[in-house]
Amino acid sequence: MHLLRLLLASLLGGFALGANILAVFPSVWKSHYLFGRSLLQELVESRSGNHSVTLISPHAVEDAEIPRIRELRIEGLRENWLDMGMSFQAEEMRSQSVMERFTRLIYAGTTNVDILLSDGQVRKLLTSGEKFDLLIVDLFLSDALLGLAFYYGIPTVAISPTGANSWLNNMFGNPQSSSLDPSNFLPFTERMNTKQRIVNSLMSTFERLTYNFFHLISQQSVYTNHFELLVKELPLYRDLTKNLSLALINSHPGLHYPRAYLPNMVEVGGLHLTPKNELQLPNHLVSFMETATSGVIYFSLGADVQTAQLPPEKLSILLDVFGHLTEFHFLLKWETEEFPAELTLPENVMIADWWPQQAILRHQQVKMFISSCGQLSVWESVAGQKPILAIPILAEQEVMAQRLMQHGVSLTVNYDVIAYDALLHGIRQLTLNTSYVEKMVQLNERLISKDSAGPANKAVRKIQLILDSGGADFLKSHANTLNFWRAEGVDVLLIIALGFCGILAIPFLAICCILRKSYYSQAAQEHPPYRTNLKVVGRVHSYGEQGSGKPPKGAESLRRTRSAQSLSNRSSTSSMSSTTSPSSASTTPLDLTPPPPPIPLLGQVPPLQLYVNQQRLYSSERKTSR
Ligand SMILES: *[C@@H]1O[C@H](CO)[C@@H](O)[C@H](O)[C@H]1NC(C)=O
Ligand SMILES: *[C@@H]1O[C@H](CO)[C@@H](O)[C@H](O)[C@H]1NC(C)=O
Ligand SMILES: *[C@@H]1O[C@H](CO)[C@@H](O)[C@H](O)[C@H]1NC(C)=O
Repeated sequence: MHLLRLLLASLLGGFALGANILAVFPSVWKSHYLFGRSLLQELVESRSGNHSVTLISPHAVEDAEIPRIRELRIEGLRENWLDMGMSFQAEEMRSQSVMERFTRLIYAGTTNVDILLSDGQVRKLLTSGEKFDLLIVDLFLSDALLGLAFYYGIPTVAISPTGANSWLNNMFGNPQSSSLDPSNFLPFTERMNTKQRIVNSLMSTFERLTYNFFHLISQQSVYTNHFELLVKELPLYRDLTKNLSLALINSHPGLHYPRAYLPNMVEVGGLHLTPKNELQLPNHLVSFMETATSGVIYFSLGADVQTAQLPPEKLSILLDVFGHLTEFHFLLKWETEEFPAELTLPENVMIADWWPQQAILRHQQVKMFISSCGQLSVWESVAGQKPILAIPILAEQEVMAQRLMQHGVSLTVNYDVIAYDALLHGIRQLTLNTSYVEKMVQLNERLISKDSAGPANKAVRKIQLILDSGGADFLKSHANTLNFWRAEGVDVLLIIALGFCGILAIPFLAICCILRKSYYSQAAQEHPPYRTNLKVVGRVHSYGEQGSGKPPKGAESLRRTRSAQSLSNRSSTSSMSSTTSPSSASTTPLDLTPPPPPIPLLGQVPPLQLYVNQQRLYSSERKTSR
């Protein structure tokens, strides 16, 4: 099939038969959609192929802006997300505990996939007979969508706009360690102290358990419900998660931290950045910006968190500070039409529900960015070399704010204690002290590649490789074929531990045996067994121990009397002993070499009469043994 395509391409002399790509971005966060769409745009505009894309997302814009990208918009996901107890309000997001947020996320993610797959447009597409060559999916709590790849028999590319997480690493078989890699749900950087590592280990165990015993099961039921009717023999969807071809991860070692990734997990941080010459600002905005004497400050808490829903006391502090700094003009992201009556909008503040953020941050009039430190915003700020006043809301944003502070390009104001003084101080520092901008220029040089080796090209090249090789199976880690016990080396540890125990046990057992033997032999001499009987019977035992020490004292006199007795029976005894121990019989004839002890089983101790009439017993015994 692919050979045929290559052949066709070469025959037609450069005419590229493009791939038909299916992209599904179920995430309700707009930033995920923006990141994914910029990848798709790179793909359809790349010269290597002549690809077309069908994009399914709750944020899709139906009147397709980009040629060869067809967008299908799914309604109801955001509403369901809110119904499931998730929120886009800063206040509520912060009041949820990590565990609460985590479990709600899993519920909301699964039900959203269910809604998406039940949507009329999606069902129509699935039954239309249209063929696709590649699935690109935003894989965050939406694993059931992998059924699409199986249904069409195509390879899968996962994108992760928030950077890698433990689930993604697990699916690819990428190494991760709870000592080195902080969970996305915790506000820790990679340099964790002991207490943080303990918390992180517990969290990663919790993530793993909930994934295996909660998320997997609920996604499996969604997956089965929707694909059972379409495909005859449906594999476990867990097997599909182990068969991903490529992950494009929105991170960068210089902004996050250096860590190992498999060759089919590619860091493409900054992928969504648009070249400066393609960015444009509307005229009325430019004139507002240029009339500011000291410059412009841009305020946005990200695509999803609404400034208009901040609590009134926080808003009034913000507006007070803005109104006080009259030498600056402010651009404020404000999502509702009307402005609340109890607040007054200062003269120097302009509001809009959507700003061309990249273009604004590249404009030289803009002096700084007040941001919640979402990934895309930080990249855009670095590209525009604007220092950041961070007001982080989520755990991952707090981590990002810490990292930026370490780079010397930002200051942080704690959301819970937003105060007039702190804000004013932060803005003054970042605009007057040039060290922040200088550091930002350095960071920009480190992170933003200016040549063709940029993240967008990297992503497109990798996707082309997946298309050309039919899934690049040679890049898939064999870690995927191992189960938990094997991958973690538990079986090996067990075997080694058993072997070690075995080796330790051999000398131990040997010593035990030796000690036991010598104990019994000693005990036999000093305190013979069947002591009560032996007072009388004594000799019976000493027969066995012949020549190996003194006989029991009590038996001495008995022996003498018996010696005489035995002597009289000599003929029969020696004939007996010659069959059992001939050597002793011949060497010490006078010692009345006894027959071997009749291996006295407990309770079968020969009765006293044995000595009275030994011969009778022996002969009777011989009879029975025959
Ligand atoms: C891309 O494919 C379309 C048909 O799907 C074809 O009309 C067009 O000429 C192709 N473009 C290039 C540059 O090969
Ligand atoms: C500017 O900021 C840097 C780093 O934050 C600090 O070391 C320096 O003292 C500041 N300069 C002034 C004049 O405040
Ligand atoms: C795994 O992916 C490859 C393509 O990368 C595909 O050929 C194969 O059928 C897939 N296996 C399953 C079980 O889906």
